[in-house]
Amino acid sequence: MPKSMDEIVSLCKRRGFIFQDSDIYGGQNGFWDYGPLGMLLKRNVRNVWYEDMVDFHNELTTPAGAPEPYQMVGVETALIMHPQVWKCSGHYDLFHDMMVDCRESKKRYRHDHIKGRWVTGTHKKKEDAGEETVFVTAVDAEDVQAALDENALRYFGLKKKYLDTLSWEGDVISLPDLPADKLGEVVGPEATEKGTLTEPREFNLMFKTTLGALGGEDDAAFLRPETAQGIFVNFKNIVDTSRVKLPFGVAQVGKSFRNEITPRNFTFRSREFEQMEIEFFCAPEESSKWYTYWRDTRYQWYQDLGISQENLILRDHHAEELAHYSVGTADIEYAFPFLEPGEYGELEGIAHRGDFDLRSHMEGKLKKEGDELVVELNEHNQPKHRGSGKDLSYFDDESRERFVPHVIEPSAGADRGTLAFICEAYHEDEQPDDKGNMQTRTVMKFHPRLAPIKAAVFPLVKKEGQPEKAQEIYGALKAAGLSCQYDQAGAIGRRYRRQDEIGTPFCLTVDHDTANDNCVTLRDRDSLEQERIPVDKVVEEVVARLKG
Ligand code: GAP
Repeated sequence: MPKSMDEIVSLCKRRGFIFQDSDIYGGQNGFWDYGPLGMLLKRNVRNVWYEDMVDFHNELTTPAGAPEPYQMVGVETALIMHPQVWKCSGHYDLFHDMMVDCRESKKRYRHDHIKGRWVTGTHKKKEDAGEETVFVTAVDAEDVQAALDENALRYFGLKKKYLDTLSWEGDVISLPDLPADKLGEVVGPEATEKGTLTEPREFNLMFKTTLGALGGEDDAAFLRPETAQGIFVNFKNIVDTSRVKLPFGVAQVGKSFRNEITPRNFTFRSREFEQMEIEFFCAPEESSKWYTYWRDTRYQWYQDLGISQENLILRDHHAEELAHYSVGTADIEYAFPFLEPGEYGELEGIAHRGDFDLRSHMEGKLKKEGDELVVELNEHNQPKHRGSGKDLSYFDDESRERFVPHVIEPSAGADRGTLAFICEAYHEDEQPDDKGNMQTRTVMKFHPRLAPIKAAVFPLVKKEGQPEKAQEIYGALKAAGLSCQYDQAGAIGRRYRRQDEIGTPFCLTVDHDTANDNCVTLRDRDSLEQERIPVDKVVEEVVARLKG
C-alpha cells in the first residue's frame, strides 16, 4: 500500500515531531518547528552526518572507493556575511525565480508552477458574446485537469453539469512554454477575468536585512542562502591554521534562508532550513575521481541509514542542466509520498564546482566565455563585482606547483533528509493487542542511530519493587547519555504501541521474574522478538545494538 503523506503529517503533529511555526497565530507559510521528538531526530541526522563525514573519518587510511587518504575538518560560520560575498558567488545577480502577479486576485505565483490548457466555451451570462477560447490555468494542483475544469467553469460562469460543453485543445503545458504574446488570453489560477497576470519578472530569493541603526541602502545585508560560501571565504584561514594538505574537505552544518515564492510539501521546500555541506578541495587533475567518490559515498550513506534502494535514485544532470561552472552534478533523490509514482524529490546535490568559487572570491565574479571562466565586466569595462583581491591559491609542497584548487560539493538538506527518514520509517502492520485481537500497529522503523528515543523502560506492574528496579535501569541508561523514556501507565501492549509509533528500537520490561533472575525482557521493535538480558548488562547491550 502506498504511504499516505496525510497520515505521516498527522503522526508528526500528534506525536510531537513537527509543528507549523507560530501555530497559535495561524501559522507561517514556509516555516516549521521541531517538537521534542522531531528535535531529537533532526539532531541525530545532523550528528550522524557529521560523525560519518568527519569524526569517524580516518585520514591515515584510504576509504573504499577513494583515490587516496584525505583530511576532513569542520567550521561554523556566520549567517550574515559581507554583502560582497553574495555578489561574487553569483547569488546577488542570479539567485532568483521568475514570478508573476495576478492584478485581480493579488496573488503571486512562481511562473514555472503555473500549468494551463486552451479551452473553448460559451459564457452563461454573456451568451451574445458567442464562443470564446482562453488559456485557463491552475497552480500546484495534484490533479491538474480537475483544477483546470473547475477554473474554466468559474471563468465561463457555468455549473459543473455543463462541463462537457467545454472543448479542450492541446496538452497541459507550463506557462513559460506559452508564447509571450498570448498573455492577454490567460486566465490566472484564481482569477475570474482574463489578462490579469503580469509579465514574469525576477524575484531574488535572498532575505534582505539591515545592519545597524541607520538603515540605509549601504547597510543592506542578506541572510545566507547556503552554508557553502562560509567555507570558501575561510579557505585561506583554514589552510594557514589547520595544517591541512590537499586533498581535504571542510564540513559545515547550519541554517540557510531562501524566500521561496511557493514553499510547499511540508518541510520539503521551506524558507528557513538547515544544510549539511562539504566543500572538498583537490588538485584539478584529480577532481573527476573525487567527484565519482563523493557521489557514490553520499548515495550509499542514505542506504546505510535505512533508505531502501527502490525509493532512492542517483540522477546525473544533463549537460544543459549544469551550472555555468560545473563539469558534473548529480542529485540524490527520494520518492517522497507527496509525489506521483515514478517522481523523485532532491535530497542532496553533488556538484563539481571547478575553481569557480575560490577564483570569484579572488578576482571578482566570473562568467563563462566559450570554455573559459572570465571576470564579468560592467558597461564601463570594470569588474562587475570585485573579488577580495586575496590570494586563495594553494602551494603544493610535493609538486612545487601553485594552483587554485577544484571543489567537489556534496550539499545535503538536513530537513529534507529528516523528512525522507520519517517517510521511509513509516509502516503499518497488523499485530494482536493485549486481548489477542488483531489491531493496526503504526511503527516508525528508524535506523537505531537516528531513532529519537533509544530505549523505553517499563515495570510490568506498579508493585513488587518493579517501578524502583525499572527507574534504576532508566537512570543507568540516561547516565550513559541515551535519550530514553520511562512509562508505567496503562497496559503493557499499549505502552509498546506508544513506543512503536515514535520508533523506539528497544523496550525493556521489569517483570515478576526480575526479582529472582535479575534479568529484564528486551523487546525488539522490528522483529518483535523478546529476550532476557541481565540487568547489569542492559546499558552495554543497548549501546551495542544501537550501532546497528
Ligand atoms: N551550496 C549548494 C546548494 O545550496 P542547493 O541544491 O540549492 O545547493 C542543497 O541546496 C540542498 O539544500 C538541497 O538538496 C536540499 O536538500 C536543501 N534545500 C535547498 N533549498 C531548500 C528549501 N527551500 N527547503 C528545504 N531544503 C532545501
